[in-house]
Amino acid sequence: MRLAGKVAVVTGGGSGIGRGIALCLAREGANLAIPDLQEASAASVAQEVRALGRAAIGLRCDVTREADIRASLDRIRTDLGRIDIVVNNAGIASPPGMPFTRNTEEDWDQAFDVNVKSVFLMCKAIAPDFIERRAGRIINIASIAGPLASLTMPPYSVAKGGVIILTRIVAKELAPHGVTVNAICPGILWTGFWRDLAQDIAENNPAFRGMTARQVFEKRVAQIVPMGCEQTPEDIGWAAVFLASDEARCITGQSLFVDGGAVM
Ligand SMILES: NC(=O)c1ccc[n+]([C@@H]2O[C@H](COP(=O)([O-])OP(=O)(O)OC[C@H]3O[C@@H](n4cnc5c(N)ncnc54)[C@H](O)[C@@H]3O)[C@@H](O)[C@H]2O)c1
Repeated sequence: MRLAGKVAVVTGGGSGIGRGIALCLAREGANLAIPDLQEASAASVAQEVRALGRAAIGLRCDVTREADIRASLDRIRTDLGRIDIVVNNAGIASPPGMPFTRNTEEDWDQAFDVNVKSVFLMCKAIAPDFIERRAGRIINIASIAGPLASLTMPPYSVAKGGVIILTRIVAKELAPHGVTVNAICPGILWTGFWRDLAQDIAENNPAFRGMTARQVFEKRVAQIVPMGCEQTPEDIGWAAVFLASDEARCITGQSLFVDGGAVM
């Protein structure tokens, strides 16, 4: 119960990694708000959180729109009373490159809007509240694609590299105010994100022809993860619990890789 009584916001918490983070935070005592583009998914995870005995709301929110973010934060404060922890998790893969000239201007704009502009907008919206209370935790979900140059998804890779630098910028500015800001870099997880990506690779990359999406994914895990294991949403969730807890009070500006050693 390291987070008893805290209120956490997990963007994109309606599925995959965000759902795992929301449930881990709830198991440690936090109440949850889940802003997601998919309102029904957000509502369903909120229901799972309530079944654990916590308060929870799901909201429809497009994190690329400042007005949506501000309206969501207002409603969360009204319904749950306060905000202590923000997890910027919502993100999308970009259409495959290889070569990068396959990507369009729209691919780059969308990858930046959803994966990195959204983090800026949320940090901007929550900062005055956290500064005033001299407390607060921000956790940004980046990716191993940030430090690794991902040929499969160039715009995504650059956007996630941006999330890592943005994390340090906001961490530096908020450090004197008692607010910590960190990133978690997940490795490779079998969520909707990778299912779609693996399907595309199976259909379009000659090196993987004839394989199922799951076989493509498993081959990728074997190729890049020294520990040989795929990660789970709970692996990311427990890292978020740690960064949100009192035990992590002096950790800020860091990127924690939960990747079975992939980047190492
Ligand atoms: N799956 C992986 O292997 C992996 C690896 C590294 C990093 N990540 C990152 O983890 C995060 C979660 O990914 P996931 O694997 O759970 O993917 P997912 O597709 O399962 O879930 C993403 C969630 O974000 C929501 N979302 C998308 N666009 C949104 C928007 N504009 N506004 C609000 N919500 C929006 C979706 O509705 C969905 O619920 C992303 O930031 C992703 O880049 C994933």
